[in-house]
Amino acid sequence: MSQPTQIKRRTTAQIRAMKGGTPIVCLTAYTTPVARLLDPHCDVLLVGDSLGMVLYGLETTVAVTLDMMIAHGAAVRRGADQACVIVDLPFGSYQESPQQAFRAAVRVLQETGCDGVKLEGGAEMAETIAFLTARGVPVVGHVGLMPQMVHTAGGFRSVGHSEAEEAKIRRDAMAVAEAGAFALVIEGTVEPLARDLTATLPIPTIGIGASAACDGQILVSDDMLGLFNAFKPRFVKRYADLGATVSTAVETYAAEVRARQFPAAEHTFPPRR
Ligand code: KIV
Repeated sequence: MSQPTQIKRRTTAQIRAMKGGTPIVCLTAYTTPVARLLDPHCDVLLVGDSLGMVLYGLETTVAVTLDMMIAHGAAVRRGADQACVIVDLPFGSYQESPQQAFRAAVRVLQETGCDGVKLEGGAEMAETIAFLTARGVPVVGHVGLMPQMVHTAGGFRSVGHSEAEEAKIRRDAMAVAEAGAFALVIEGTVEPLARDLTATLPIPTIGIGASAACDGQILVSDDMLGLFNAFKPRFVKRYADLGATVSTAVETYAAEVRARQFPAAEHTFPPRR
């Protein structure tokens, strides 16, 4: 008798080993049905704290909580059979100490079944990343534009345009890699710097607004699908306009309900014979 095929999710070690090879395909996912659609095509699904802005209408990611991330992480995990699933640690859940970060990460891994966590920060987070990885928590770093720092950065703006900024991003990226992160998201920076970091670092770089030179790419799925229209960063390519499709569908439904065209006979239970 033949055995049922066991589909296994990609491991963080397999993602790490993709350094320098075929570009790593990553997208954000926040719900089970969307995870099911993205999963067959992606190496990594990130349950990003961007969900605060995309799903909850918040102005920044600062108010996103660990409970929100855990609920959405578990939902995405249920929809993912083959992609490696990573969950963002939200603002305030890990910056205080390595121990606080470990407690948050353990909750994420135990309560979602996901494969690892991502956290924002450079040299100042190196001790925390080393603490987590030494204790069995796979970590993705995130440097460059760091949305959780919006209030100290003075807004969402690309970085690495001055020598000082470039030097800081280099130091941050090196510190995160040396601390044991298995991959690094580089957000919103110039191509030569991203290219250089990709050539220098031993771990895969995943770019978002950081050029094609990175080892992989990530986009917020609602951005690339045209579902989030509050604003469109320069680095987003729209692969679909689902927002327009939804508007047209709902407009047609409303018109048909008002004209008593919906429900039609085929949507109605026939009378008892
Ligand atoms: O929160 C998020 O979606 C992210 C990606 C944009 C990298 O951090």
